[in-house]
Amino acid sequence: MGFEGRDILSTEDFTKDEILEIMEVSARMEELARTKGVSNLLSDKIVAVIFLEPSTRTRLSFETAIRRLGAGCITVADAKTSSAAKGETLADTARTIEGYVDCIIVRQPMIGGAKLMADAVSVPVINGGDGPGQHPTQALLDLYTIKKETGRLEQLKVAMVGDLKYGRTVHSLSYALAPFLPERYIFCAPDALQMPKNIVADMKAKGITCQQTSGLEDALEADILYMTRIQRERFDNPADYEKLKGSYILTREILEKGNKEITVMHPLPRVDEISTDVDDLPNAAYFRQAHNGVFLRMALLAMIMGRA
Ligand code: NCD
Repeated sequence: MGFEGRDILSTEDFTKDEILEIMEVSARMEELARTKGVSNLLSDKIVAVIFLEPSTRTRLSFETAIRRLGAGCITVADAKTSSAAKGETLADTARTIEGYVDCIIVRQPMIGGAKLMADAVSVPVINGGDGPGQHPTQALLDLYTIKKETGRLEQLKVAMVGDLKYGRTVHSLSYALAPFLPERYIFCAPDALQMPKNIVADMKAKGITCQQTSGLEDALEADILYMTRIQRERFDNPADYEKLKGSYILTREILEKGNKEITVMHPLPRVDEISTDVDDLPNAAYFRQAHNGVFLRMALLAMIMGRA
């Protein structure tokens, strides 16, 4: 399948070759952004950015990508100011906005919500996070970061730590890396927040060794240490969150006991799971990771509008 007109809903939808193509275009976009700043590649396009859940990086890096490609942008950055607050369905919102723009980027709290919108309209829809479901553009920028930091996507031991149950980034990352046959996934979480069984089963079916553990020390031998925040907003009972918050706190001292070459990543925002004394280490890639989001999102926008 080509990219033009395509929805970006889940990393399950991509082949290895497609992911490699996205990586290549992202590198070109990085070059373009660094040399030209702003181009006119999409100067005849308008993109809607509809964010019905909190966001800093995803929304602002999408808006930066849109501007760097010369496109126009209309934005909802607060659910309370959109008609979602009046009870409008996602499908009706999508069908309305479809008449204004060439592409819709949406973040909202319901698993499958972005797909529901995509099914209702003919312009491409990009899932910017559907509750505890998927976050495909984050996972693709994570791959772009892994490639830049380690020089490869193959033969990696990847540890994902924290809230693997509600954390959509690790769901998408598991599927995005799977075609590159990781040597091992180390899923490190409190028992109550382990990786959903269906995802573990899917990874095993692809032949990937999955180690499930609750001990942070098991994660330190990985090549990639992907830390995540306990997703407070997904807990029905605040007392359950209180019991689990602070489960893992990565400090410089702990890190120095592990693989010296480890790459530490985090989708951000962090709460307390990486101590700030890690930030100055060359291993700490999380702010570089956040910056890579612009190039990856430029690539996706250009590709689905047939201009890459
Ligand atoms: C993540 C998200 O929204 O899922 N943030 C992001 O997009 N960079 C991670 C999180 O909120 O914990």
